[in-house]
Amino acid sequence: MSKKGLVLGLIAVIVAAGAGYTVARKQLAGATGAEMASAQSLLTASRTGASGKGDANALITASTGKIMVVKAGESIQAAVAQAKPGDTVQVMPGTYNETVYIDKDNITLMGVIQEGQWPVLDGMGKLNDAVLYSGNGIRVENLKIVKFKGNAIMGQAGNNFVIRHNWIEDTGVYGIFPQFGQNGLIQYNVLSGIEDAAIYVGMSDNIQVDHNEVHGNVAGIEIENSRHAVVENNMVYDNAGGILTFVTPWLPIKTTFDVIIRNNFVVGNNHKNFGAVGSIVSGVPSGTGIIVMAAKDVVIENNVIRDNKNAGIIVADHKSFANITIDPDSDPYPDRVSVLANLFSNNGYEPISDVKALMAASLTSHGPDIVAVGGGKGSCMIDRAAHSTLGISSWATTCAKTTSADIVTLLLDKPAVSRSTATTTKGQVLYNGICAGCHTYSARMIGPPTQIIQALYAGNPQGIADYIAKPTKKRDDFPPMPSQGHLDPEMRRLVAEYMLSVKQ
Ligand code: HEC
Repeated sequence: MSKKGLVLGLIAVIVAAGAGYTVARKQLAGATGAEMASAQSLLTASRTGASGKGDANALITASTGKIMVVKAGESIQAAVAQAKPGDTVQVMPGTYNETVYIDKDNITLMGVIQEGQWPVLDGMGKLNDAVLYSGNGIRVENLKIVKFKGNAIMGQAGNNFVIRHNWIEDTGVYGIFPQFGQNGLIQYNVLSGIEDAAIYVGMSDNIQVDHNEVHGNVAGIEIENSRHAVVENNMVYDNAGGILTFVTPWLPIKTTFDVIIRNNFVVGNNHKNFGAVGSIVSGVPSGTGIIVMAAKDVVIENNVIRDNKNAGIIVADHKSFANITIDPDSDPYPDRVSVLANLFSNNGYEPISDVKALMAASLTSHGPDIVAVGGGKGSCMIDRAAHSTLGISSWATTCAKTTSADIVTLLLDKPAVSRSTATTTKGQVLYNGICAGCHTYSARMIGPPTQIIQALYAGNPQGIADYIAKPTKKRDDFPPMPSQGHLDPEMRRLVAEYMLSVKQ
């Protein structure tokens, strides 16, 4: 289904359900209460069982609200299996070596920290994921997660999620990775040692990322193929690239727009890029504070952007970026980027050769606070004369909107309806929510392109369904594919059929 069809379909379903759909573009005047109410409604969503589905069943079971306690030596998954929507699984300090999969709604997974002792999920460098959820209204809090190969916390098409106060180190490809989710809050997490993006918001809508500390990762925070996101008050340092907002080509959702990046510290992101060879993120030049690639309507305001050796901000189109093949269905240009008041200092002191060439061409010896390469229109930067700039002579020197302060959050007023009750098919939800985290249609992400898999498995969906239950090593130049054995045979068959039918 095309993106347009999907969005129109979603709206049709929401209207039919009478749920009301309001993007919470709250006005600041007297909005503190409203903001609190909104954050509060997310924080308590799992307790009240507000799934937004209008589903009586969910509401009735939600009211039980039991607390199930898991102690060291016991299994978290066993408690989750017993839990009903509305329940809280409380994890006591201790070490747990397991993957927790939550496939029901309104479950809270809550660690208990006692005298500085955390509950630790330890993948021992062997397990793929720590927490996977596909339910709506999931909250994950107070967990220390270390040494996994895939992800610390991955959302697979779950909406209305809250991921906060987790401490994540060395968990493989991604740290916190909500994929294909709507209406979610990611805050007060600390993440380091991640090979791709520490916080990776993929193909999602209405997201708030605030007060996180991300350091020592390839990318700090990435908003990719997502819309209506606020990234604020984060501490982002010592990554190869700090904050990224991208359209990655060849994914099922084709756009990124309406992203506010404000009040962050984006400092000294000069870590060596240790991303997987050939991956898009491995093309991020070390020493870059913020990168906008092909995203639209991006506001960058009130950040401290300093000591990033390559550049403070890069604005690029697809054609100018390494490891990108052009997707005819994605607009490759970054449009309407507004760079408002920010503190820039000491950026671009050791730029990569491409940036040096641009400096030579424009006869400047200063490395850039901001550099734009390739096409794009409608962008602006205020205070331009105060900063070191490259490639933005066509940008306006005033911006129509001088601050984003009137927008408090882009979270929804009411919980979003679940993807699976919208017009998307189950196979599509599974594909977008899981497989598209690693497979794009015709570019290499983590796994081989879907197009190649279609050629290998033409007319053989069962072959895919069997492979993903127990993947074997096929290619030397790719990491192993993690088992999807948590999906039942019917779900595996549906996602396999969908994978074979994807056209772009
Ligand atoms: C965490 C990343 C990741 C996710 C998520 C993922 N894959 Fe993969 N997939 C891979 C990698 C990496 C390979 C290559 C493995 C190899 O060649 O050894 C692969 C290979 C495959 C293959 C090729 C097998 C072959 O015979 O060559 C199929 C089919 C496949 N994946 C299907 C899926 C489906 C369906 C999903 C979603 C349910 C999915 N994958 C989710 C990473 C992933």
